Amino acid sequence: MNETRPPKTIATINFKGGVGKTTVTWCLGDLISTYGNSNVLLFDLDAQMSLTQSITLNEDGSLFRKFSDWSERSEQRGKTIFKAIEAYTGKPGFDFGINYDFVYQITDRYHFVPSVEDLYWLELGVIDREKMQGFIRDILGKVTWSRNVPDYHYALFDCPPSFTLLSYSVLSVCDLILIPVNPDFYAVRGVPLILNTLRLRIEPFPIPKIAVFMNKAKPYAGGMTKESRFYWSQVERVCAQAADKAALKVKCLDTPIYDRVAIKRAVTTGGVPPEFVNDFKNLWKGITEFLNE
Ligand SMILES: Nc1ncnc2c1ncn2[C@@H]1O[C@H](COP(=O)(O)OP(=O)(O)OP(=O)(O)O)[C@@H](O)[C@H]1O
Ligand SMILES: [Mg+2]
Repeated sequence: MNETRPPKTIATINFKGGVGKTTVTWCLGDLISTYGNSNVLLFDLDAQMSLTQSITLNEDGSLFRKFSDWSERSEQRGKTIFKAIEAYTGKPGFDFGINYDFVYQITDRYHFVPSVEDLYWLELGVIDREKMQGFIRDILGKVTWSRNVPDYHYALFDCPPSFTLLSYSVLSVCDLILIPVNPDFYAVRGVPLILNTLRLRIEPFPIPKIAVFMNKAKPYAGGMTKESRFYWSQVERVCAQAADKAALKVKCLDTPIYDRVAIKRAVTTGGVPPEFVNDFKNLWKGITEFLNE
């Protein structure tokens, strides 16, 4: 890139657990760094560390040596995301240098900022919400201007299934909120709840664009089963209502990710499984079109 610009930021969120936030975020990052020639920086903001742990584990469950060595060094040198938060909320002036002790290189183009256990302590009220609001914006600013890491086209954030200080910080500055839903009744009940909560929590800051799509859609004859289509039509209906009522920019992306077991190994084995590549390419096309609208 000739021109230094902050990355486009996308945060994946749903207050429901297990809908596929982590899996989808990981696969999207892999897809756009592999097929889209983009530099991607992925953040694990979940103190449960499920993404970080998946990367740490080999197929046989042993620690992935390269990552565990890196992670030890990152701790020793005080370059974890928790140390960055301490530097941000502590003394005035944000003194925290970005380099490859902060950023782990999964591949040439796919880079990662892992979660650390200390993130649990963040939620105990030691740090106040207003102090954290600008953290993600400012750390991305540092990443953008750092000469030690490349220019990233996209920053992706895997958020926990709850509203934390870090989700508050990312959701109030990101370009797009991505909401995966599953084909079940919770999607229909849960989506209006999420949209309303987002509005209440993020205001007075502007609410980013919001894209909803179906993950774990049940496949049938080249499309979805009748049941999955039913739930999706209900999601579209409630999204339209909620968007109208709360004046939000919400788009339902008609590009599902299907329910197939191969995806369960996507993180531990590396890339998006071949049978998922088209699903993710279609989803990404919808996301970028919406981002550019
Ligand atoms: N399209 C899919 N097809 C089949 N299984 C899937 C699919 N997407 C996700 N899964 C599986 O569903 C489970 C939950 O996925 P994941 O951990 O990504 O959800 P999550 O929303 O991040 O959960 P949490 O709320 O705990 O962070 C995992 O076992 C994952 O492998
Ligand atoms: Mg998760």
